[in-house]
Parts: sequence; structure tokens; C-alpha cells
Amino acid sequence: MDKLLIDGGVRLSGKVSMSGAKNAALPILAGTLLATEPVQIRNVPHLKDVTTTIALLQTMGAEVTVGDRLSVEVDARNISRLEAPYELVKTMRASILVLGPLLARFGEADVSLPGGCAIGARPVNLHVAGLQAMGASVKVENGFIKARAKRLKGANIMFDMVTVTGTENLLMAAVLADGVTVLENVAREPEVLDLANFLIGMGARIDGAGSSTITVHGVQSLGGTEYTVLPDRIETGTYLVGAAMTGGHIRVEDTAPETLDAVLIKLREAGADITVGDNWIDLDMHGARPTAVNVRTAPYPAFPTDMQAQFCALNAVAIGTGTVTETIFENRFQHVLELQRMGANIRLEGNTAICTGVERLTAAPVMATDLRASASLVLAGLAAEGQTLVDRIYHVDRGYERIEEKLLQLGATIRRVL
Ligand code: UD1
Repeated sequence: MDKLLIDGGVRLSGKVSMSGAKNAALPILAGTLLATEPVQIRNVPHLKDVTTTIALLQTMGAEVTVGDRLSVEVDARNISRLEAPYELVKTMRASILVLGPLLARFGEADVSLPGGCAIGARPVNLHVAGLQAMGASVKVENGFIKARAKRLKGANIMFDMVTVTGTENLLMAAVLADGVTVLENVAREPEVLDLANFLIGMGARIDGAGSSTITVHGVQSLGGTEYTVLPDRIETGTYLVGAAMTGGHIRVEDTAPETLDAVLIKLREAGADITVGDNWIDLDMHGARPTAVNVRTAPYPAFPTDMQAQFCALNAVAIGTGTVTETIFENRFQHVLELQRMGANIRLEGNTAICTGVERLTAAPVMATDLRASASLVLAGLAAEGQTLVDRIYHVDRGYERIEEKLLQLGATIRRVL
């Protein structure tokens, strides 16, 4: 099993380019199932979750060609199997995203109940309730969600809580439904907007994406398009936190600064000197230790849960005491136990991690438990004294493209070992 070996204590410095957003690429790849012509997608990050999604499309009969410069062409004209098997779904919860498109285009979908990150119960009841409101019959049998509908019908759907993939699934179902669908209290994440723009490129009629109400006028069919995936804001935030924790100075390029407002506010509060351009962010700590900050996760545009673990790591080496409150997922604090093993002074009180920073973390062998938790351990390793071994980094590889290469470019001492 791959591990990352990190010699800590180096200030990150230099330039680094961001990859396409994992959480936009996955729904967009699932959305290719809606098209009756080939679709070309660019800036697709080379990640385990993307490979899994491509394998999923292939098992259904889609022809997928991975080209150079991170482009992927999907030809979903000859889909023959309307099923997402457990072997693939168990490794990636986002596989649930094929449910809406398959049902909308073919009237039938069997999707294994998802696995993925062990960060709480993460049910899919809202996905299912929405499809039922659109006229689908849905039952759970042998571990599969089995959905049927001759043709989905437009409906008014109000989400009980904000769900990102739930919004995306129902959006993809609605684009081919008969009539108008109004989705209320939807996720406003930039990745939802990116998916909507991609679907519009294929001929979908969607208004309001990026706001809390989306209106969809169903169309008969969708055609081909070429689309470039937006940059990854969580990857961007992770490198910026790395620089902040090590007193460094980096410029993150090929990113979308407007998607990172909440994160940049907190980094400025932590003492970072930040300059923003069209597609880059420059962060300079002038060699200083960060100041501890308080963050509270909430749906976009508030502070993202996917940056929570990284800010726990930041507070661990900061001056003063800061709190990180998680409101989206229960049980998303596995990284805290590992950070404690590196000398972090953190305690958990309910859904809040209270941390008083220490001058230096000390290296230790640690274990990645989920995607963003593992990123926080890599960051802690970069700031720690000594050699940190991060085990089970397949979690990191699900979401960070060439992490050790990018960190090496920023001057870190890091290598992958078996
Ligand atoms: C997506 C992101 C993930 C991010 C999360 C929150 C992708 C592929 N993954 O996950 O990186 O951490 O958004 O920003 O985009 N819920 C229900 N019932 C449902 C659906 C969700 O109760 O049917 C709850 C969940 O348990 C959770 C909350 O709603 O407490 C938000 O989850 P959701 O936004 O759905 O997360 P994902 O879409 O799975």
C-alpha cells in the first residue's frame, strides 16, 4: 500500500498549477450518459475517483477515450447495461450520480447503495424522494436502488436540507423530464453551476443554477458538446493552507479565486498576505506562524466542510486557540486523533474541535482515514519536525492529482514509498 514520507520543516515556496475540480468532473462524467452524441470534456483531473467513474461508464457500454491534455471523450450512444455494480460503487459514493441520468434517458436504473468516505451516515433519501416526486417508482432490493419511470415528469421539489449530489442527481433527471421542474433549497456550490453549464451546452434548458432555486424545462434529447471543467477550489485551499502552516509564500495558478471567498477570509484572518488575480492566488506568510482561527462549516458560499480538516491542521501549529465546528457531517473528525499523535493540542466537544496551537508538531507514523483527513495529515507532516509517514494514501489519490509532484515543486521534501 502506498505511503507518503515527508521531511517536515520546509517553507513552501514557488508556483503550482491546479487541476480540474474532482467534484465537478464526477457529475459531468455521469451527465455524459444523457447525451445521444459524443461529448468532449477537458481539464479532467487524473484521479482515482475519475478512473472509477470512467470504469462505471464503460461497464454500461459507453465508449470512453482518454486523450492528451486531460481530455476525455464519452460516447454514450450505445448504453447496454443500466446498472452500477457494487464493486465500483463501494469505492466511491459519487457513483450515485448515474441514477438520475440513467433513469431520465432510459427509464430504468439499478444503482448499488453507495460506500465512499466513512464520514457519517450519508443517506441518499433526498435523491430518492425527488425521483419519486417526478413519478419514478423506487425500491431498495438486494442492496440496490431500483428506479423505474417510463418518462419522468416535471415536479416542484423542496429539499429538506442542502445536498450537493442530491441537487446534481435531480438536475440531471429533470433535464429530460416531461415539463417543468422547480428545485428549491438546492446546493449553490460552484460545481453544481459547472454541471448546469455543461448540461446547457448539451441543449438543456436550466435557469437559476448557482442560486437556491433552479428551474428546468425538460427537453426531448441532449446532444454533444465540448466542456472544460472548472478548477478545484478544495485542492487550491489545501495548498494555500500548506503555505500558511509553513510560513511560506506560494502562487497558486489556474484556479478560480471567486470560488474561495470563505477560505481566503479565514486565511487572511490567520495572518496571510493574499493577492488575487483573474486565475491565481498569491499567499505570503512572510515567515510568520499563523494565528488560530474559528471556522464553522456550512453549505456554499459559507466555509466548506471539505476544508475543515486542513484548518484543524492549521490551528494545530497556530498561535492561540481556534475552533472548528462541523455542521454538515457527523463523525468527520478522524484526523483529530492522528493530529494528536503528532503532538497537537486538540480536544473534541461534540461537533467542535478546540485547538491550541503548538510551536512545532512532531513527526509520527499516521494513517489516512478519508480524503480530506488525509490531506490534513500531509499538511501536518509538512509543518512537523522530523519524518512523517502517512499510510493509506489511496484516500489522498482519490482527490489530489500528483500531490507529491506538486509539493516537490513547492520545495517540500516528500516521496511516495511502497
Ligand atoms: C458532496 C461532495 C463532498 C462534500 C459534500 C458537502 C461530491 C462528489 N462530494 O458530497 O466532497 O463534502 O458535498 O459539501 O460532490 N443528506 C441526507 N440525505 C440525502 C443526501 C444528503 O440526509 O439524500 C445529508 C448528508 O448526510 C449530509 C448533508 O446532507 O449530512 C450534505 O450532504 P451532501 O451535500 O449530499 O454531500 P455529498 O453530495 O455526498
